[in-house]
Amino acid sequence: MKTSGGSAAAKRRAGESTADAVEDGQVVGLGTGSTAAHAIRAIGDAVADGLDVRGVPTSFQSRQLAIEAEIPLVELDEVDGVDLAIDGADQVAGGQLIKGGGAAHAREKIVDAAADRLLVVVDPGKLADRLDRSVPVEVLPAARPVVEDRLATLGGEPTLRSAERKDGPVVTDNGNVVLDCEFGAIDAPADLAAELSSVPGVVEHGLFVNLADEIHVGREDGVDVRT
Ligand code: 5RP
Repeated sequence: MKTSGGSAAAKRRAGESTADAVEDGQVVGLGTGSTAAHAIRAIGDAVADGLDVRGVPTSFQSRQLAIEAEIPLVELDEVDGVDLAIDGADQVAGGQLIKGGGAAHAREKIVDAAADRLLVVVDPGKLADRLDRSVPVEVLPAARPVVEDRLATLGGEPTLRSAERKDGPVVTDNGNVVLDCEFGAIDAPADLAAELSSVPGVVEHGLFVNLADEIHVGREDGVDVRT
């Protein structure tokens, strides 16, 4: 993914700043994407300096990065809870999120929702007055046609996400496909989230409603924290 120099620096600041929130003995959810990657690397540096944490990865990508950073890993079903999760987002409006640009939103939502505290790390380009990006919807492959019909009746325009480097759809870590669904401006994210969750064949969607505790917005010269 191409990012401007300013955006890249903002992502780095946002991601790295959240590593300071991690405390000794905690179980930490490790989000997916280029901004969360900065947090993972910074936590790895802290582990090298003696911080005792266990990470719960949210994707193949974040697991690989955490292994490289030498963060001890556990799966969600091996721990009593998650103290803190750090994750990126594709759009943020009033604390509500659209996620799933990396097709990892199903595992991300499970880990983020399980965490006592969710810190979201973004650059300023992710901020909006209203959510209006397409909503990623992870779908069981055989259910795609019926889910597409249901999404259309909900006012959406679904497009199957295709893989950039090979002829075929993106396949998630869970073996499913992703429909990117345009709804225009989303005035009631909680209502749409509930409707999407009720569609048989939908594994998970990328609307994260009332999950974020803090939004860390990286800037050229620092980080704004919104609660
Ligand atoms: C992956 C996600 C990512 O957190 C989201 O796409 C943001 O990525 P980046 O920090 O690279 O902009 O939801 O499913």
